[in-house]
Amino acid sequence: MDQKKAEELIRRLAAALRGTELYSPSHPLVQRGIDAFTTAATERLQSSPHVVIGFIGDEVVVDGMRLPRGTASLIGFARDLRDRGIEKVTLSRGLSRAEVGNLLSVFGDRASHVPLPDRLAAKGVRNVTLGRIVVDEVSDEQAGIAAARRVYSAAVETAESLWNAAKAGDQPDPAAARKIIDGLARLVTQDRTSLMALTALKKYDNYTFTHMVNVAALAMAQARSLNIEGPLLREFGFAALMHDIGKVHTPLDVLNKPDKLTSDEFKIMKRHVVEGAHILRRTPEMPALAPIVAFEHHLKQDLSGYPENIGSRRLNLCTMIVSIADVFDALRSNRPYRQGLATARIRSIMGEQGNPAFNQILLKRFVNLMGLFPVGNLVRLSGDELAVVTAEHPTDPFRPQVKILTDRTGAMIEEPVLANTWERDSRGEHPYAVVEAVDPESVDIDPLKFL
Ligand SMILES: [Fe+2]
Ligand SMILES: [Fe+2]
Repeated sequence: MDQKKAEELIRRLAAALRGTELYSPSHPLVQRGIDAFTTAATERLQSSPHVVIGFIGDEVVVDGMRLPRGTASLIGFARDLRDRGIEKVTLSRGLSRAEVGNLLSVFGDRASHVPLPDRLAAKGVRNVTLGRIVVDEVSDEQAGIAAARRVYSAAVETAESLWNAAKAGDQPDPAAARKIIDGLARLVTQDRTSLMALTALKKYDNYTFTHMVNVAALAMAQARSLNIEGPLLREFGFAALMHDIGKVHTPLDVLNKPDKLTSDEFKIMKRHVVEGAHILRRTPEMPALAPIVAFEHHLKQDLSGYPENIGSRRLNLCTMIVSIADVFDALRSNRPYRQGLATARIRSIMGEQGNPAFNQILLKRFVNLMGLFPVGNLVRLSGDELAVVTAEHPTDPFRPQVKILTDRTGAMIEEPVLANTWERDSRGEHPYAVVEAVDPESVDIDPLKFL
């Protein structure tokens, strides 16, 4: 089975399951979901007697083939089943539509305490078996947050060398830049969750370089969600990475001034857009988009920003995407003059009525893309415990899956506890609820260590 087909099979299973949980069994959406999954499974079972779907960690494996990580809904789905003790679902030839319907209703019924395999048997489902996988600890160097972290740190290091080259008047090495962009393009497609979590680390000792990489990552994630891929996705990445390169000519006392700039200083600061465009036009192999974005990224939708007096102009789509990524990352980062802001606060600033800085449609999409409590965010729960967001709920952004790290006094607990904040207890209430995002540095916890 090729990977596309395997992904399609799992997507249909997840969609059908979601339908069963949201609607009554006779609802057309539920019926359609059952049909769609049955068709895909039956097709597969024609060429092989069994299909084995496994859930290892956050990954879904179909007949031994690991599906690309990345979509939050797949991760949520995999974790959900695993948390309920299911690591393996085997479908066998002869599987009927009625069995699929029963399988989904059994999965969808969270109230029952009878073990899932027993309930399946009681419903006469014979062509589906549920089980646990026995495998050696999977240690895949290429997968997960550790691998993403390596790509990310290498990107920050390379960004620093590009910066230094431009500062010395040399041409930034296009091959090095390409390496960063290739790494980010891979992550943005295969493991967006980890990449987005990494951009949320708040550091200011090397802000300049992390900002370059974060803006590239955040812009590429937006572009990817607009179905931009391949060479164009990379061009967007280049342009985003280099948007502020003109700042190599901004004197450090202006660049790092903790207080408000005087009007003269602001005038100097404003030059970085034109200087950036000059540098990038001279850099070999730089896509034509890069100087455009450097030139435009402070212009705003109504051209009320800078450079001033440039006549009428339509901003490039990439510029609009980069402006969103740029301001979002700047507000979120800790700077010498202020703490990084929480996501919710940034969102209200950026989304203010009539804010001319952003294209509001793209901004709305960005907000949806980032989720309310993105994976890797440190959050406070209603009982005052601190937790890290480990997965987003496929449909309810207010109720992610979290790993609880501290007790209500703030003391670290020895064995962090996973909690699905969407789950209700026997009285029908939510025992856990996320109240707000917390700045990891204010409590000195690195949430990514717990992913
Ligand atoms: Fe800028
Ligand atoms: Fe910037």
